[in-house]
Amino acid sequence: MSSADIYRELILDYYRNPRNFGKLEKFDIDSHDTNPLCGDEIEMQIRVDGQNRIEEIKFTGKGCAISQASASMLTELAKGKPLEWVRQVVKEDVFKLLGNPDLGPSRVKCALLGMKVLKTGVYGYLGAHYDEPDDRSG
Ligand code: FES
Repeated sequence: MSSADIYRELILDYYRNPRNFGKLEKFDIDSHDTNPLCGDEIEMQIRVDGQNRIEEIKFTGKGCAISQASASMLTELAKGKPLEWVRQVVKEDVFKLLGNPDLGPSRVKCALLGMKVLKTGVYGYLGAHYDEPDDRSG
């Protein structure tokens, strides 16, 4: 088996048995987006702990194997990480999780849908919870 085959198998495995699939009862972040080209969707829910870390993360969605597998792989990677880590995630990280497959432009959108949902949700949360520096002294 070539390494491309192994990754193809891996993507299919994540598609058929997605890790972290489902909904959280309690969550602080709820983010959703669709791929405009095909209508496929991803929703992610995140519970944040007292130190601004991703305590729990789950996703649901429907769509192609690449979109669902990449979202699932991202949730595994994100679990336990500080929210700030999400700012540093770039598309190359997602491609790497998928085994750097040869993706055409429309498939790139599939692969990055989960990252978009994750970033949108976390950025919204960080924006809403930004603590103003306390300059009231004096
Ligand atoms: Fe819709 Fe891939 S075909 S996200």
